[in-house]
Amino acid sequence: MEKVAIKDSSYRLKKAKILQTKKLTANEKFFEIALMDGERLDYEPGQFIMVSLLGIGEVPISVCSSPAKRDSFDLCIRAVGKVTRSLHKLKAGDVIGIRGPYGKGFPVRILEGNDLLIIAGGLGIAPLRSLIQYVLDNRRDFGKVHILFGCKEPKDMLFSDELEYWNERTDLHYACTVDRADPDWAGNVGVITTLMPGVDIEPSRTFAAVVGPPIMYNFVIKELIAKGIPERQILLSFERNMKCGNGKCGRCQIQNLYVCQDGPVFHYEQIKNLNEAF
Ligand SMILES: Cc1cc2nc3c(=O)[nH]c(=O)nc-3n(C[C@H](O)[C@H](O)[C@H](O)COP(=O)(O)OP(=O)(O)OC[C@H]3O[C@@H](n4cnc5c(N)ncnc54)[C@H](O)[C@@H]3O)c2cc1C
Ligand code: FES
Repeated sequence: MEKVAIKDSSYRLKKAKILQTKKLTANEKFFEIALMDGERLDYEPGQFIMVSLLGIGEVPISVCSSPAKRDSFDLCIRAVGKVTRSLHKLKAGDVIGIRGPYGKGFPVRILEGNDLLIIAGGLGIAPLRSLIQYVLDNRRDFGKVHILFGCKEPKDMLFSDELEYWNERTDLHYACTVDRADPDWAGNVGVITTLMPGVDIEPSRTFAAVVGPPIMYNFVIKELIAKGIPERQILLSFERNMKCGNGKCGRCQIQNLYVCQDGPVFHYEQIKNLNEAF
């Protein structure tokens, strides 16, 4: 019998063109990107793509724009190593490879009709920006929205224009803090949990979406549980080293879970007993 080659389309590498870049901080750069085949990237807030540079390597990066943005999508990339530093050298017109989107993002259909408490630490604002923009694009579908953002110092603040805009909106509550102030900073100083007592929520109808550095999770989760938010209503996004991005290689495995496929967004009750998770 003739053998039929099975092509796994989830591995399909697509060419994408950088439309614009913008330096956000000393270490993070914004990229607006469009697929070159004219297709649209169909993703959910919280999903990630694999971004590749020929001969250099491939890295998982969260899409940070709203899925409602049809012709292009945004990434925010921190330069930490070989691939991300090379990506920082690119400019408008340059071409990269992408695969995906992959993984489970924020369950927006489940979130609809509920109040949201969105908590971002540092670069965690990248995947959460996608969720926030989605919620603002569909504002009537959600109840009260609280956004808490924290970073180390004022100079580390990502998307400062948008933070300003969220602060001015009357249909959401926004607060931010820095661990260390500079002479021009007139806002809150302290870790992100210092903002939480000021947030008035109805726990039974509130979903929390939390993304930040690992150290932040333990403290924030304790506060959320103390506020009475049920564990299944606490959503967290995880970062793990990845290779395939779609459940084939096991690189991202934590016990029985593949972060790339079962996550990166998890309900707290799914992962609370995984010692290696925090
Ligand atoms: C699901 C998912 C979503 C992600 N989304 C984003 C995103 O939106 N924006 C973004 O900038 N990054 C994101 N990352 C992290 C990004 O994938 C890594 O920073 C990247 O793979 C590093 O590759 P590199 O070749 O540049 O560095 P490498 O050469 O692999 O690493 C260089 C050094 O940096 C360290 N390092 C690696 N990753 C990190 C990290 N995350 N933070 C600090 N140090 C690190 C390594 O331990 C090593 O010491 C995401 C990761 C995952 C799993
Ligand atoms: S990265 Fe290969 S299984 Fe998750």
